[in-house]
Amino acid sequence: MPADLTIFDSWHDRAGVRKDARLVVGDEDLATKKFFPDHVVPHLRHPLVVAREDTARRYLAAQHLYQWLRFTERFEVEVVLRTVQRIADGASGVDLSKKMRRYAMKINVDEQFHALYSIDVADQIEEASGIRALPFDFAPYLRHLDGIGSENPSYAKLVQLLQVIVFETLITSLLQDVPRDDDLITVVRETVRDHAADEVYHHAYFAQVFKELWTQLDPADRRAVAHFLPAVIVRSLQPATRSARLALAGVGFSPADVDTIVAESYDQDSVMSGIRFAARRTVGLFRKCGVFDVPGAREAFVSAGFADPGEGGTAALDGIDDIRAAIGGLDVP
Ligand SMILES: [Fe+2]
Ligand SMILES: [Fe+2]
Repeated sequence: MPADLTIFDSWHDRAGVRKDARLVVGDEDLATKKFFPDHVVPHLRHPLVVAREDTARRYLAAQHLYQWLRFTERFEVEVVLRTVQRIADGASGVDLSKKMRRYAMKINVDEQFHALYSIDVADQIEEASGIRALPFDFAPYLRHLDGIGSENPSYAKLVQLLQVIVFETLITSLLQDVPRDDDLITVVRETVRDHAADEVYHHAYFAQVFKELWTQLDPADRRAVAHFLPAVIVRSLQPATRSARLALAGVGFSPADVDTIVAESYDQDSVMSGIRFAARRTVGLFRKCGVFDVPGAREAFVSAGFADPGEGGTAALDGIDDIRAAIGGLDVP
């Protein structure tokens, strides 16, 4: 059995929920600063959208921010908490030490706090900006994500564990870029910075959970897991085109223009290249654990749109300092 982690021993002193003040929107920011960086929102870079007046572009950026904060809140509650509680209870399908299960309880507190401030910040910005949030529905995303488990019911709980391992080890460009972007509304930068600070520790924890899970699986289950993983990654990172469509229609684009903007902004190649980038360390972790020694695993990843994951590629992150540097060298404890 791999050695226990010690990283959550300092949790009471350094976790966001234990030391951070409430994130509060500063009204002075809202008139001049951006809601979200254009370069991470594909439809904001589309020529038809670029040509629109500032008010319409601000509306679209605000809607993207709302959907992202609401997505974060729902993902924490509906996907992360359900599995992390099972880990804490010793019912997740991976056998972990008592210490690792107690760490899971700390992670659950972190994630509940992330859910709270994500929705709290969304509410505050909506109120202060006067831009009303469009309805957000998490259910279609969750159905799609859980589809892999629904199609393989005997693996449903294991797939839910894989969802969390994958999501907690992804490093999106958003996590790296937003905290440093001076053009953004301050509270948006702070929200991502604070979240990233906790996720450094979660990344290390879930890398360890995957290592332990992998050593415990028998060959048949390893084959099954290796084949589920590419789909879990791809479905986790599916862009929110439903919300984009609603927002684009909201600024007066015709249904045909909405179709064009979405099709051209979220084409398969660009979407997949973003997914490969965000998942490079996760795939590195799988390589390090031996996932690609399983017959057919490399082919499953390649046919899902990943470069041959058995060859070279980006290494897994090792240790807190490594992870913190990869997330952007943020000035966090
Ligand atoms: Fe989180
Ligand atoms: Fe997390």
